[in-house]
Amino acid sequence: MKLLTIIFGSFLIITTVQADVSSLVAFDKDTRAIIKAGDALQGKEKAASMKCNKCHAENGQGDDDVSVAGHPATYIYKQLKDFQDGKRDGVMRKKVKQLTNQDMADFSAWYATLPFAKGTEGGGQLAIDLVYKGDPKRMLKPCSTCHGQNGEGGKYDSAAITGQNKEAFIEMMEAFKENDRTNDIYSRMRLIAKVLTEKEIQALAEYYGAPEEEEEE
Ligand code: HEC
Ligand code: HEC
Repeated sequence: MKLLTIIFGSFLIITTVQADVSSLVAFDKDTRAIIKAGDALQGKEKAASMKCNKCHAENGQGDDDVSVAGHPATYIYKQLKDFQDGKRDGVMRKKVKQLTNQDMADFSAWYATLPFAKGTEGGGQLAIDLVYKGDPKRMLKPCSTCHGQNGEGGKYDSAAITGQNKEAFIEMMEAFKENDRTNDIYSRMRLIAKVLTEKEIQALAEYYGAPEEEEEE
């Protein structure tokens, strides 16, 4: 009986630990080799033939949807994997079902070559302080430590955040805040989004967000 309890107990622990893992992607040697083997031109062709361009546009910047342009290839690969592994939710889950590792590496190589729209750098002093100083009182690190001096992204899972569509940017921050998006390793973004106020998120969207499209007559 005691043995059974132990076995059952460890089974419970194992299953809960698995459920809590935010991502199955580790940037080990094998994964880095897969990403490195990505072919940007193949990615470009696949984005057209698999209709990714319908939402993300040919230049990757999207119209109203999320911009995928200019992210580090490692970041794109992780997102596609996370959608496929059921670690990130949303419309993309259906789109990635059939993708092979090679497809995902090709998309990553392609999107990484596309330039992002530059952020408008609005949002005033409130945004500038959060971007470059953070707020030690709330243990808030500056965005630039992880996302780069100009929001251009960095190593591995460090996303580019400049030139993102404003609405999409706000939705991403809210998703981290509300635990609707939980694929960030070590909860790094969730911990940050949770302590930011709505006003601060708005200011950051004004800072990093892409210029709005001109309305067509
Ligand atoms: C129906 C519209 C639609 C189509 C088609 C689509 N996407 Fe997406 N994609 C989205 C939306 C919306 C998001 C933002 C996440 C969310 O809200 O679910 C997203 C997010 C992403 C992300 C993560 C971006 C980030 O900054 O985190 C990547 C990468 C991506 N899509 C690649 C692709 C690829 C590759 C294809 C084609 C195989 C594709 N998408 C097809 C709508 C679409
Ligand atoms: C401790 C490091 C760290 C800091 C500081 C940080 N972030 Fe992040 N952020 C991340 C990581 C890691 C991800 C990618 C999570 C994942 O794997 O999907 C991310 C993702 C994001 C995304 C989603 C990008 C996309 O395309 O889906 C946004 C938006 C974002 N961060 C904004 C910010 C802002 C604004 C700040 C400053 C207030 C900030 N981050 C500070 C680590 C950080």
